[in-house]
Amino acid sequence: MGKRKQVQVPVEKIEEQNRFIEAIVEKNNRYFAINKRKPKYMITTFGCQMNEHDSEKLAAMLEAMGYEPTLMTNDCDLIIYNTCAVRENAELKVYGNLGHLKLAKRKNPDLKIAVCGCMMQQPHVVKEIKSKYKHVDLVFGTHNLYKFPELLTETMDSHTTLVDVWDVDGEVVEGLRSSRKFELKAFVNIMYGCNNFCTYCIVPYTRGRERSRTPQDIINEIKELVANGTKEITLLGQNVDSYGKTLEEPIAFAKLLRMTNEIEGLERIRFMTSHPKDISDEVIYAMRDYDKVCEFLHLPVQCGSSKLLKKMNRHYTKEDYLRIIEKAKTEIPDIALSTDLMIGFPGETEEDLLDTIDVVEKVKYDNAFTFIYSKREGTPAAKMEDQIPEDVKHERFNKVLAKVNEILADLNKEYIGKTVEVLIEGKSKTDDTKFTGRTRQNKLVNFSVKNPEENLLGKLMNVKINSATTFSLAGEEA
Ligand code: SAH
Ligand code: SF4
Ligand code: F3S
Repeated sequence: MGKRKQVQVPVEKIEEQNRFIEAIVEKNNRYFAINKRKPKYMITTFGCQMNEHDSEKLAAMLEAMGYEPTLMTNDCDLIIYNTCAVRENAELKVYGNLGHLKLAKRKNPDLKIAVCGCMMQQPHVVKEIKSKYKHVDLVFGTHNLYKFPELLTETMDSHTTLVDVWDVDGEVVEGLRSSRKFELKAFVNIMYGCNNFCTYCIVPYTRGRERSRTPQDIINEIKELVANGTKEITLLGQNVDSYGKTLEEPIAFAKLLRMTNEIEGLERIRFMTSHPKDISDEVIYAMRDYDKVCEFLHLPVQCGSSKLLKKMNRHYTKEDYLRIIEKAKTEIPDIALSTDLMIGFPGETEEDLLDTIDVVEKVKYDNAFTFIYSKREGTPAAKMEDQIPEDVKHERFNKVLAKVNEILADLNKEYIGKTVEVLIEGKSKTDDTKFTGRTRQNKLVNFSVKNPEENLLGKLMNVKINSATTFSLAGEEA
């Protein structure tokens, strides 16, 4: 892809939104005076961390406007669905949920319902909502999230579905007023969009072209988070190894990692997602050399067949991928590896599946997200011949999943007897005499401590592992 000039949303436009926020605050103050409580919102999020983080931004805007969160639909004033378009089942869930809300809206006509996120970037979805889900008040997309205060204001006085979805991308937003709460672990966007057009994937259509935030803006945000108590950050992008290419002064991702590593008070740095075609040796060295960069690499392979990888437009072969993994394991012996696997891509044969299983066996993933290929309207793969029948896809999926879990259980057993560093996230959900946290390799650990009365949240502790299951480790303070 050629270099493309990227622009920042002008300060005046952001200030305009901040004025809408002020106006809603006044309105909500009046609401409080009458109802003796703040108006309540609920956000349901589908999809990836990018969407989760967008929901956090919406929540932060709403809290700056004087709303408070709730988990109950029946005492809610505003319900938001932040949607994902990556697979059909995520879309079906949203339609199902919206259908159920018809009754809630009939009971409480003041309830406002908004839908946003990746699904809304597809014209056929907006058409469907406008015709079948007339009780929806507001539809907006991924490129105009920052305009939410203005859109919400308009919705308050309107009784039809307000739709504002942009197909333009390329803008980067900085400086919107919001109340980010204390987060021990926080997401930080470093870039938006994707230029890769893997043939199965809808993301480049819903998130637009690749654009990066400046390193200064990123570092400032992280410093602010750290000043507020954050210990761990995850740098987010659809293809982080391509970070910085669109900036006026291009900069490599490894350099951003170095700058981030210098932030005092920050304990851990993670990042996702890396792409096998773009990951550089420098990123592997950063993980080896920079103390805060965790020994954890999410490197989606999708499948092990070089023939299918070509059809997927991934630009690497099985051998290329295994070489990167070998290099990472050699440089960082205690690295944990994670991946995405897609089963049932058009044309997949039993032999292709064996290649995928072979990769799983060779790499030994600590974590693997396994997906059944789902046909996405508008992507090249949807038009490919040799679509795989559903039952075959499921059968193959189960085979791969069983292999992934078998290896994972073995890997976790290797931790028994070892001492690991855990960032303490709170009390264990299943046993409140115990604590829970994650290792640098992102393993979940439940453990007992010597002094449970001490405030341990956010502390690093060495934990000796005594037992392991497929999905977690257990132990005691070392
Ligand atoms: N940018 C990241 C992740 C994007 S979406 C990357 O390139 O890895 C997350 C995962 O969803 C993908 O890695 C892929 O495994 C899966 N996915 C994407 N499109 C899909 C589809 N049409 N059907 C099933 N899974 C899909
Ligand atoms: Fe989708 Fe490929 Fe971009 Fe990932 S790299 S978001 S799979 S197009
Ligand atoms: Fe993420 Fe789904 Fe959009 S995976 S980028 S929320 S289509």
